[in-house]
Amino acid sequence: MIIFSGIRPTGPIHIGNYLGAIRNWLELQKNNQCFFCIANLHAITTPFKSEQLRQETFGLAALYLSLGLDPHQSTLFVQSQVKEHAEMTWLLSTITPMGELSRMTQYKEKSDRLKASQINAGLFYYPVLMAADILLYQTEAVPVGEDQQQHVELARSLAQKFNRQFGATFKAPKSLIPKNQARIRSLRDPSRKMSKTDDPRGAVSFLDSPEEIKNNVMRAVTDSDRQIKYDPQRRPGLANLLIIYSSLENISPQEAAQQFVGQSYQSIKEELSQKLIAFIEPIQSEYQQWIKQPQKLEEILTAGQEQAQTIAAQTLAKAQQKMGLLG
Ligand code: TYM
Repeated sequence: MIIFSGIRPTGPIHIGNYLGAIRNWLELQKNNQCFFCIANLHAITTPFKSEQLRQETFGLAALYLSLGLDPHQSTLFVQSQVKEHAEMTWLLSTITPMGELSRMTQYKEKSDRLKASQINAGLFYYPVLMAADILLYQTEAVPVGEDQQQHVELARSLAQKFNRQFGATFKAPKSLIPKNQARIRSLRDPSRKMSKTDDPRGAVSFLDSPEEIKNNVMRAVTDSDRQIKYDPQRRPGLANLLIIYSSLENISPQEAAQQFVGQSYQSIKEELSQKLIAFIEPIQSEYQQWIKQPQKLEEILTAGQEQAQTIAAQTLAKAQQKMGLLG
């Protein structure tokens, strides 16, 4: 299969990004043709600082590699370095209904949290750019967390619409969403998804120190019930801890609950912090090695750019030709 996915370089990635998306990527890269981008054009749709963005782009590349994405197996590249993404966005925008974009949950959530002056047209177009990312590579499957499912469905419907209107051009992709880890919740507010930008104290990121990890986990919001039971509907805070723990242990959340029967929330949190620290520490040391070699990172990204561009340019030319545009 052809696989495409990406992450925005807006601060270090967190355990939600890992469990919702990257863990699947690591499995998929073994037997599929995978493209993983650093979505810096998406990152500039919300307030950002230029120098920080540049650093975080390299930081995310270093984290991709530290987590085990292998440039010999997958194409790793920076979205803005393949110009076809921006051009394809324009073509697709002309078949995207405004009404559909205004119904996108992520747009509504993000624009609710921004000042009116910060809501730009790019944020509204975000799903069209994402569709361009996906369709340029004739992608069949898109491994993402639940929050991105609606965007992948839009990409699918745009592919079908374009094909109907102009003739067969794109494959229609589907999303690949993990069963229990599709939506890791904020440790501070289990009604929201974990997000470093919304509330760093509610997240565990791959660049947090052991103390930060422990603090955030020990202060996780749970409930006043004493019995340990996996009940994501009624007890989302506890279920979230059990999901994270069980994912690291490769067991089911129900098995994790079983393991902790009779114990306090305090001891679950302690055990979970230890597991997270042990999991994250070696990745952080790898990261420290990668970040010291900017030239090597650049070489990997340039090779990725070339591989991606070859395919993206072919698809763009095909779409232009079908639309009657002189390319
Ligand atoms: P971003 O950076 O917001 O999220 C990156 C990935 O992490 C997943 N994710 C989560 N999964 C579970 N629980 C959470 N709390 C959680 N938070 C984030 C997201 O679902 C996503 O898979 N727009 C995309 C980036 C992108 C992209 C693409 C993805 C750009 N182009 C093309 C797929 C295909 C995004 O959500 O980034």
